Order: sequence, then structure tokens, then C-alpha cells
Amino acid sequence: MGCVGVGADARPVTADRVSPHLELDLSAVRHAYRTMRNALPGIELCYAVKANPHPDVLALLAADGASFDLASVGELDLCLLAGACPERLSWGNPVKKVTDVRAARAAGVTRFTTDAPADVDLLAREAPGATVGVRLAVGDDGSATPFAGKFGATEDEAVALLEQARTGGLDAAGIGFHVGSQQRDPEAWVRAIDAAARVAARLGEHQPRELNLGGGFPTLHAGGATPDIDTCAAAIRDALAAHAAWWRPRPFAEPGRVLVADAGVLRAEVVLVAERAGRRWVYLDVGRYQGLAETEGEMIVYRLRTPGRGGETGPVVLAGPTCDGDDVLYRHAEVRLPLDLAPGDVVEFLGAGAYTSSYASVGFNGLPPLPTTVIEIPEEGGIDHHTRQH
Ligand SMILES: Cc1ncc(COP(=O)(O)O)c(C=O)c1O
Repeated sequence: MGCVGVGADARPVTADRVSPHLELDLSAVRHAYRTMRNALPGIELCYAVKANPHPDVLALLAADGASFDLASVGELDLCLLAGACPERLSWGNPVKKVTDVRAARAAGVTRFTTDAPADVDLLAREAPGATVGVRLAVGDDGSATPFAGKFGATEDEAVALLEQARTGGLDAAGIGFHVGSQQRDPEAWVRAIDAAARVAARLGEHQPRELNLGGGFPTLHAGGATPDIDTCAAAIRDALAAHAAWWRPRPFAEPGRVLVADAGVLRAEVVLVAERAGRRWVYLDVGRYQGLAETEGEMIVYRLRTPGRGGETGPVVLAGPTCDGDDVLYRHAEVRLPLDLAPGDVVEFLGAGAYTSSYASVGFNGLPPLPTTVIEIPEEGGIDHHTRQH
């Protein structure tokens, strides 16, 4: 008889005791979507699937009328499975393979974002007649996770790209931008809309008729005030109004984080507490590789909760469980946890519904990807639980 391992049986079986796990409240996703829709009436919202591609999130948003922003064939398949129709899908990733464009066309997707001449050529060849929007490089100061020059055309390049698209047989319909994720400065959208308007003005009779406002809408984390969606929406509305006398494009947005972050609580467990060189280190069973990728460079500092431990707190270095030196969540940020925190205690990361489960590695150090427990609080109270791993 072979060796019998403990395997999955070693993990607790009750959904809410699997550690670590992400608990995602679908009613909070619905609320965030409707709040944004009300704040930006008449603006199509294309959910950026990468933020959290859980099938229940996609199905809920599809049923509520959302459109979707895609980055890959995998996301395309998930959206179709969730019931989204191809006319509501927009391929927002400017970096595409030939096979991506072919798969998108075969599925009936007709909207693409581009930012480079070779990509315009690819679209003209593989998706003739498709609707394309050019992504401008805009200032992303104020973003917690800036793109730092990875994407986007200058204004001169954008004019040339739209002309290249039009003469290449594409529908050169749009101009757009992304002001950087977790963007805390509403003026970033104002400056970017002004830049898009300058491009539109230069195109005369071929003015773009669509304006992609991108994502970037921020959510609450530790260490710093964030404008709410109404504040961002007011800045956007004013900026659009400033050009409306001569340019009235159809605006759409690609929100990711803001629709799912607040719906998620990541529940983890303390594994070890140790003193090292005069600092208290707390090691958790979740880290950089099980979903907390946005702690890299301490870009996102989550709000933490320690249910059942309410005593005196002290500063800690917070670390993940793997044998990797990079797997430290916070060394510099001021993180304080109860002094009596001990192995087995729960630590909760709030606002963790975005860019967590989708970032988890498939098995670094043998640790599984972060499972998601979906809950929905019905009108009459009570909680429905189910767990699925993605
Ligand atoms: C093209 C595109 N659109 C939208 C988003 C969503 O951004 P956010 O989650 O900041 O709203 C991203 C995020 O990286 C993106 O790359």
C-alpha cells in the first residue's frame, strides 16, 4: 500500500473556516455598481474583469446591465459563460496576440483599444471594420499603482493612430485613457478629458465620437483620504461640460476596483509571532503570493481587523508564510496589531475584493490559490454561503 497523505483533508471543511479565504458579498457588488450608475447616468460601465473574475460577480453584473472590459481570451470566455452578449464586450488591453484578435472576432467582439502602430495594423488585418479607440498616455500622479509609461500614445501619436486606423478600414471611433488605478485626485480625469479634447479638436470632421474614461476610481484603504464616486463623477461631468459646445462624445468607463473592493474581506490566520532585531514580526497564512500582490512596494495598505482581540496594540512587521524574502507585506507602513495576538487568531483584510483572488499564484511553496466564499445577504436577512475556487 502506498503512502497516504493528509492532502486536502487537513484543511477545515466548513466554508467560513478555510484559511485563508476571501469572503465576497454579492449584494455589496450590486450596490457599488448601482451607486456608480447613479453617479454617472448615461455612461456605459464596462466592468474590468481582471479586478475580480468570479463567475457570480460577472453573472450578477451582466444581469444588472453592465458591459465588460476584457484583457484576454480567458476573460472573454468567462464573460460569455456569465451571459454577457458580445456587443457589451470591449477589448481594453492594447497588448494583443493575433490569436486574441481572432478569438475576439469569432466571438463577435467589435470594440478594441489600441495605442501603437503595429497593433493598429494587426486590428486592420484581423478585424476589418472593428471599432477602435486610441489610449492616450496621461498623467497618473495620484495613483497608488501608476502605469509609469507602460501604455498610451502622446497626443501627436494619437492623432496619427486614429488616421492610420481610419485609412486602414477600421472605425476610428474613440479616444480614451486610464488615469492609474486607485487614483486619489479627481482632477486627474479633468486633465485627461482636456487632453482627449485637444486630440478631438485636431481631427476636425473625423472627431472621435466615443470617450473612454478608463478605470482608476479609488476605494478606502489605510493611510489617506479617498474621494468618493460622487466627487469623481462631478469632476468628470464638469470637464465634459466644458467642451460640450463643440464636442459631445459618448462616454464610457472601465471601473474595476471600485465595484468589488469593498465587497471583499480576506480572512487569514496568524501562524507565528516572533521578535527579530527589536521588531515584532507577525507571520500570516496569506501573503504576496496568495493574493496580496498589491502590497508590493506597500502600494495598497489594507485596513485590518482582529476579531476577538481588542487589547493594547503595538507596531508590527507583517509577513506572509512562504520561504521567499519578498513575501513581507508591510515593513514601512505603520501597522499596529494587538500585543496578545497569537497563532490561530484571525486577521481580516478589509476592502480586499479587488485584485486579490485573481492575483494568487497557482501553488508557490505548495500553497493553493485563494478560495472565494460568496455570500449574499437577502432582504429578509440571513446569509447564503458557498465556496468556489478560482
Ligand atoms: C485597460 C484597463 N481598464 C480598466 C482597468 C480597471 O482599473 P481600476 O481597477 O483601477 O478601476 C484596468 C486596470 O488595470 C485596465 O488596465
